[in-house]
Amino acid sequence: MIISFSTNTNFSRIKLHELSKRGLKEMDRITSYENYREAWNNSHENSQDYWRRIAETYQWSRPFDSISSGDFSDLEIKWFEGGQTNITTNCLDRHLKHSANKKALIWEPNSPDEESITLTYQELHAEVCRFSNVLKEHGIKKGDRVCFYMSMVPELLTGVLACARIGAIHSVVFGGFSAQALAGRIIDCEAVMVITNDEAYRGAKTIPLKEITDLALETCPSVKTVLVRERTGSSINYKEGRDHKLMPLLKAANSKCPPEAMNSEDPLFILYTSGSTGKPKGLLHTTAGYMIWAAETFKQVFQMQNDDLYWCTADIGWITGHSYITYGPLLNGQTTMMFEGTPTYPDAGRFWDIVDKYEVTHFYTAPTAIRALQACGPEHVRSKSLKSLKVLGSVGEPINDEAWQWYNKEVGKERCPIVDTWWQTETGGIMISSLAGVTESIPTYATLPLPGVKPLLVDSDANIQDSKSAEGNLCIASPWPGMARTIWGDHERYRQTYFSTYPGKYFTGDGAKRDEKGNYRITGRVDDVINVSGHRIGTAEVEDAINEHPAVVESAVVGYPHPIKGQGIYAFIISSAQDEEIMAKELNSLITKIIGPIAKPDKVQIAAALPKTRSGKIMRRILRKIAAGEIDTLGDISTLLNPEAVDQIIKQTASIKE
Ligand code: PRX
Repeated sequence: MIISFSTNTNFSRIKLHELSKRGLKEMDRITSYENYREAWNNSHENSQDYWRRIAETYQWSRPFDSISSGDFSDLEIKWFEGGQTNITTNCLDRHLKHSANKKALIWEPNSPDEESITLTYQELHAEVCRFSNVLKEHGIKKGDRVCFYMSMVPELLTGVLACARIGAIHSVVFGGFSAQALAGRIIDCEAVMVITNDEAYRGAKTIPLKEITDLALETCPSVKTVLVRERTGSSINYKEGRDHKLMPLLKAANSKCPPEAMNSEDPLFILYTSGSTGKPKGLLHTTAGYMIWAAETFKQVFQMQNDDLYWCTADIGWITGHSYITYGPLLNGQTTMMFEGTPTYPDAGRFWDIVDKYEVTHFYTAPTAIRALQACGPEHVRSKSLKSLKVLGSVGEPINDEAWQWYNKEVGKERCPIVDTWWQTETGGIMISSLAGVTESIPTYATLPLPGVKPLLVDSDANIQDSKSAEGNLCIASPWPGMARTIWGDHERYRQTYFSTYPGKYFTGDGAKRDEKGNYRITGRVDDVINVSGHRIGTAEVEDAINEHPAVVESAVVGYPHPIKGQGIYAFIISSAQDEEIMAKELNSLITKIIGPIAKPDKVQIAAALPKTRSGKIMRRILRKIAAGEIDTLGDISTLLNPEAVDQIIKQTASIKE
């Protein structure tokens, strides 16, 4: 059935027209389940019209000629072609007329004793322009890649926006990655500038970001300039001619900078993420489609009112921080918060202190943080008011029932809808989620696809599971505006990774279940990717690092259920070494050096042999079961090349410590 806008009173042509007349130029929100259904149907039956109408509510320096072209076979996907815009005009300039003095950014430092920083839209605009001018003064121009390796200081957000303003491509690398991992990313995208801190505060610790950057840059000839945002004031090396202190440059810079006119498909950013094979992939997001997706998904999922205060606890080093600390909230003219510290510093009540201090209304975090805080005991949360909260969000990994219930009861006091938002670096923004207070929140279910998203469940033979309730591998049927357009420098890898398993469909790498009412429950990765504390880690990457140890002959890394992290990393190794504890320590420092501390294995087991098929392939499925303690459901192992290896490994597992 085709439902046109004109038949729908909540989401209607008339209403949009009236809003435009009043100068608000904002598309209406979805306000009821029926309304959601109509919008969803419309987005598919009338896709071009649906997106045109939404896109027209943003500012374009040149109107677009067409809505979308390309499909999952040609992979030449384009949205809003012919149009020119700048995402920062829509994040900043657009709000100056009516909301110049509205708070745009609140920054809360690592230590509660330090002053916070608040910037209005006017001030944020000026800061971004200053930063843009500093970039230009250092030779950065449209299309150049600028790498950020910073902690959560305000200049990470203003710097990213400054790149977008002048058309440079930002690539943010999470501050927990090692020098080698940072170098790999810089080399891959041939960044010409790195922006970093002297050191980062992280709870009670400091992290020597500049020192790590210096080490990385020994192998990165493309980098000509390093800007250093001093944070801890520690004494660091400045390389003559290459390194500059950022803050004095910003202070001296002009606070006006015209936005670069960007074509809709001009690159906006590259963000690296791990997959099941090879080195991390640089996903490329482009200007207009990403902008519309970040803005629209934020608006519909979080359902914020004008005076609400939104806080997403992610780091800008991940996609969540791009779409839902930076772009989504600012595109919607909301106030966004940025937190430098950790949930447990100085104690496990820090998140809740911040919520009370600023009267946060919308709080968005990861299940791993919820579980970690739950484990610290209820007193930290029960001693706080939390009465300002209206909406809670979850992202990054499946949320287990216990964590969901705790979040709902102890944090939301059973009166805040929880939006469990499923999406990926590749998708640019939320794909499956309830809409806060509009559609139902169901424990452990991400629930419903957003307008524009058509999920499919397929079995391993590529058969689409048509029945209402079903289970399978999660694919998406057709392009959406916010999807990554390619892997930087390797379009063929993009095709292979996402579109070759099920030709004509985007394969997410996740498994999912669907209930009778069409609600989706994400069950986790079905490929060789582990989700550790909401961070995506490729098992192949960890194995490659482990195999660099001279005493390691072979290794197999699998995920296993972990009470706090969601999944832990279990490394089975074949080694000439005897002492597992010493080996675990050595592998930890090796992995910290090659990837970063987030990829350290929780358990290391030296095995006599790894179970293999007759063709010599390691049977990871069996190792996963053993690591999870599910030894009663191993299935038939008699066809293995070496079934005795399984018994040996099982006998040893009991003694393996974390
Ligand atoms: O497995 C899914 C899991 O995180 C993966 C994407 O990771 P990344 O690209 O780092 O992006 C994380 C932030 C969006 C997915 O393939 N994931 C993310 N959100 C959820 C989730 N799994 C279950 N439920 C979610 N809400």
